[in-house]
Amino acid sequence: MEDELFSVLGTLKDAVKKIAHAIEVSGTGKAGTQNIYGEEQLALDVLSDNIVQEECKKNPLIGLIASEELPDEVKLGNGKYAVAYDPLDGSSLVDVNLAVGSIFGIYKTDTFLGVKGADQVAAMIAVYGPKTTIVLAVDNGVKEFVLNIENKFILSNDNIKVGEGKMFAPGNLRAAIERKDYLDLVNFWCKEQYTLRYSGGMVPDLNQILLKGKGIFSYPGYGDAPNGKLRLLFECAPMALLMTQAGGAASDGTIDILEKPLKKLDQRTPIYIGSKAEVERCCKALS
Ligand code: F6P
Repeated sequence: MEDELFSVLGTLKDAVKKIAHAIEVSGTGKAGTQNIYGEEQLALDVLSDNIVQEECKKNPLIGLIASEELPDEVKLGNGKYAVAYDPLDGSSLVDVNLAVGSIFGIYKTDTFLGVKGADQVAAMIAVYGPKTTIVLAVDNGVKEFVLNIENKFILSNDNIKVGEGKMFAPGNLRAAIERKDYLDLVNFWCKEQYTLRYSGGMVPDLNQILLKGKGIFSYPGYGDAPNGKLRLLFECAPMALLMTQAGGAASDGTIDILEKPLKKLDQRTPIYIGSKAEVERCCKALS
């Protein structure tokens, strides 16, 4: 790995350590503000976003950031790296003490508009659960690190691979009311006795597929939201890089998620991600 990219990842790891601490000790109240999607922000959403911003500002190699919590991309300087992130995905799960996460996609670009997930030079998720872990895709390998008692990330899995297996995480089940194709697919998974593993947090749900090495996560659109709710830049593209480099796949039903160009920062996309054969099954059943 290039030294410079190593430095950028070090910055993001520092942010993750601070967010993990903030989750442990902070209240779970509302911030009294909304993000650009009209979603009510928790104080922890705002705090986590500030932590990532402040850490990125310390590293001159990071010239550009974009956050799910901010309306526009923000130029920090002339550094060649750009970081797109969701500082605290699934934050509504914090008050019931379920796992949540952060998502980062790292590019070399001076604007995010027009980039594709395949342009990412690295992607990383952090899971704040019983332990704090990160999963990192860089240099064609996917690795897991766990935060130890000395506040250091230690390698815990050096070659994460996703094969095939009967586990499913069916997001947006409300879509099955209108979409018989989705209902039929969910029924297929039930009849075939797949194991249900759905927490309501995309990061822990996909972390489970990565670490167990099998499974499918689906989040289709329907009705007034034909593209569903998950964002291409902040959630789906980094997840797709992790899954693809681990040997799985990610599609919107028609196109590989990594090949979708970003037309606007808050672009949403349906997503089927996990074991290759399961993603193909979704594409056949739902596209
Ligand atoms: O985008 C935020 C998120 O919380 C994801 O982490 C999760 O997969 C999804 O929303 C759950 O969506 P819903 O509220 O529709 O179940």
